[in-house]
Amino acid sequence: MCGIIGYIGTKKASPILIAGLLRLEYRGYDSAGISTVEKNGLSVMKDKGRVKNLYNLDGIDNLEGTIGIAHTRWATHGKPSKENSHPHLDNSNSFAVVHNGIIENYNDLKNFLLDNGYTFRSQTDTEVIPNLIHYYYTKDEIDDNYRVLRAVQKACKDFKGSFAIQVISKFMPNNMIVVRKDSPLVIGKGDKENYISSDIPAILSFTKDFYLLNDYEFALLSKDTIEFFDINLNKLDKKVTSIDWNTTAADKSGYDDYMLKEIYEQPTAIRETIGSHLPENEPCHFENLNLDKKFLSNINKMYIVACGTAMHAGLTGKLAIEHICNIPVTVDIASEFRYRNPIIDKNTLCIFISQSGETADTIAALKLSKSKGATTLAISNVIGSSITREADYTIYTHAGPEIAVASTKAYTSQVILLNILALYFAEILGSVSQEEISKMKKEILALPNKIEKALNTSTEIKKFAKKIYQEKDIFFLGRGVDYNTALEGSLKLKEISYIHSEAYAAGELKHGPIALIENGITVISVITDEKLVEKTLSNIQEVISRGAKTLVITNQTLPSNNIDEVIMVPNTNVLLSPIISIIPLQLLSYYISKEKGLDVDKPRNLAKSVTVE
Ligand code: M6R
Repeated sequence: MCGIIGYIGTKKASPILIAGLLRLEYRGYDSAGISTVEKNGLSVMKDKGRVKNLYNLDGIDNLEGTIGIAHTRWATHGKPSKENSHPHLDNSNSFAVVHNGIIENYNDLKNFLLDNGYTFRSQTDTEVIPNLIHYYYTKDEIDDNYRVLRAVQKACKDFKGSFAIQVISKFMPNNMIVVRKDSPLVIGKGDKENYISSDIPAILSFTKDFYLLNDYEFALLSKDTIEFFDINLNKLDKKVTSIDWNTTAADKSGYDDYMLKEIYEQPTAIRETIGSHLPENEPCHFENLNLDKKFLSNINKMYIVACGTAMHAGLTGKLAIEHICNIPVTVDIASEFRYRNPIIDKNTLCIFISQSGETADTIAALKLSKSKGATTLAISNVIGSSITREADYTIYTHAGPEIAVASTKAYTSQVILLNILALYFAEILGSVSQEEISKMKKEILALPNKIEKALNTSTEIKKFAKKIYQEKDIFFLGRGVDYNTALEGSLKLKEISYIHSEAYAAGELKHGPIALIENGITVISVITDEKLVEKTLSNIQEVISRGAKTLVITNQTLPSNNIDEVIMVPNTNVLLSPIISIIPLQLLSYYISKEKGLDVDKPRNLAKSVTVE
């Protein structure tokens, strides 16, 4: 949830650190700070508020150090304040630390340190880290180049919870140490300089070569070298991963906001995600995925597990897999799945979807499924992310970096990938006719152009947004796939416009929610399944007769009736229609948020990547 940046090289570190933090600000934005190694010791400059406030701090321009660590915070322990901001120092100002994650046993460690004479200036869990490192440093009698590393390692062995940690120290003025467990951290390799970041896009303009750390792996960096160690400080040999994202993919390219840019990138994201999975006249193909007929025929059930928008993509995947492959699929919220006792055995395939690949609950759910013998498949947008390293198999969406907190292009890319996956299973199983498969493939290939047409609804949508942006409650309705789209549309609206909103399966309305419908309320419905048009229209009439204003997103010709606004989108196979019908709803949330003057990309209380429980 927090963002970490580090630099070690020959240039002045502070401008590089602040520029990196600005790119990472979507991960946390209630306070920020940097620490550099200066001639006279460690400097720390930090404050509550946005990263740009750092430019106003007294003395920030005078920092000369070429080694530094930096942090943008999303508060977990202790309110946003200067004292609680990172970096944190130990009592003797010898070690500076930034941390992403939660040290769950910090109270025990704090009591231990208090008993040993340490004092604390903040309410954070993080402050135990530099002090525990100091404690172990002073207990070590060997004074060699690895003394700080040994102290960090011993401290890490004591931590319970999740952490990505960067350490600098006045005792090793030419080095930096980083380590991670269940929290993201990458190392970018440059020429006589190295970069650290919570994610790849933030340092993509400096390098395309990355080292990806696994849990409990340590890196000891100088400007020219990187040494890797395991938890017992045995040396490790790690390979560089080259990332082919271009740098414009990680900037706004003339758009007002990342979210708008990402909405408009969807035709490209879908094209890239379809990639080479649908070769002409050949079965669907996924590199590195080789599930055979015997395995697939023995599958008794599948789970799709994810959080938030990724879970909504999973709901659409369930319909596709059940319809085309005839295998029962349960979709679960990762934070629920991990704490119940899901029925899993070696004949269960568990699919985990995560844009970032770093969502703590999804990773925990994956680990649980593996421990119960399931075969695991990850769907992620980030190469080498934690989830991809845990799963038996990984397939990637190729949406490019998604920076806005509200997910758009990652969602539609996940939906398309799940549909292709369903076809891949169906071809192996022979569960549907070749004709149906060919039709579906054609429809998939036509999607990017259809999304472009759906984007043309933006003028109508903008007008509608102006009419309703001051509303307090908005309802979404749909049946079948359209219910899933309603759920996702409602989540988008809540996230970035702060309007209370609920999505209901249209048929459920009469079982309670209709009591909430009163004169003037806005009800938005999605209708793309021709079999369900009349059913949903009846539900819409029920809300109209109770005074609701109605908007319908549809690809069907509706009988003329008293609906206030109808937005037409291109038609496609019903299983694929969420990819198109969500576009006007994404635009609607965006324009409502703009009308309200809100920060679209960084909505309050939210962070892009939820790396803590
Ligand atoms: O990175 P992930 O896909 O695992 O993230 C899951 C959710 O946190 C995410 O989809 C969240 O709901 C978005 N902010 C929705 O726009």
